[in-house]
Amino acid sequence: MKINGSVALVTGANRGLGAAFARGLLAAGAAKVYAAARDPASVTLPGVVPVRLDVTQPEHIAELARQLTDVTLLVNNAGIGEFGPLLVPDAIDSLRRQFETNAVGPLRLVQAFAPVLAKNGGGAVVNVLSVLSWLTLPGRSGGYSGSKAAGWALSNALRQELKAQRTELLAVHAAFIDTDMARGAPGPKIAPDDVVRQAIAALEAGQPELLADVTTRSVHAGLAAEPPVYVGTGA
Ligand SMILES: NC(=O)c1ccc[n+]([C@@H]2O[C@H](COP(=O)([O-])OP(=O)(O)OC[C@H]3O[C@@H](n4cnc5c(N)ncnc54)[C@H](OP(=O)(O)O)[C@@H]3O)[C@@H](O)[C@H]2O)c1
Repeated sequence: MKINGSVALVTGANRGLGAAFARGLLAAGAAKVYAAARDPASVTLPGVVPVRLDVTQPEHIAELARQLTDVTLLVNNAGIGEFGPLLVPDAIDSLRRQFETNAVGPLRLVQAFAPVLAKNGGGAVVNVLSVLSWLTLPGRSGGYSGSKAAGWALSNALRQELKAQRTELLAVHAAFIDTDMARGAPGPKIAPDDVVRQAIAALEAGQPELLADVTTRSVHAGLAAEPPVYVGTGA
């Protein structure tokens, strides 16, 4: 995947990591960046084309796929995090919202844009996942981790299906990123621009997966530890 001359669609591009993706892709030579947001008026970055998209609305996705026929790179970035325990009555509603936004929406986008990407030579998909695809913060991230674990499994399945049409899929995993979502979270946070710089390099190198920071790499290594890192301490 060459970013220079590419035409990107970035979801949730009005702020946070999505805005950084839009900025970084333009700087890396993308010919056009469609900056998708629930409220297109909230997209302030110069040089992008704002488009309306709520990733939980199938008709928005279908309409965009009809209109944006030149897309060669889809960045599934939009996401929500609702943090709390699972053993409370509203956990199921919260889980559904997070699944719709973090797993089902990105899948629908890949389904809708796969023919567009194929027609334009293959291109690539970036799915923004998390270190919490593999790990749960005790009592806090069951629903979010569930949705990102689903996103990870779907990404792995889609990567295989997309091979037939020469579309690559890059899964991006990170721990805390310095955006609104992680506001108030303790500990180190990676800069959104740093994640994007690494993601662009990974795309251009044809990597299937990016582990963007030391925490993510250490958790990934701990999947095979004894006990595995995801079993946790219960603390
Ligand atoms: N921040 C972290 O620590 C961290 C770590 C690992 C992975 N991630 C992932 O990184 C991605 C970007 O998150 P962020 O950190 O930039 O969070 P953020 O600052 O909260 O931004 C979230 C973005 O997603 C958009 N969004 C939410 N629901 C949407 C929907 N239904 N349709 C369309 N757009 C929607 C938001 O739009 P509105 O402005 O309309 O709300 C916003 O643009 C997410 O997938 C997140 O899970 C974040």
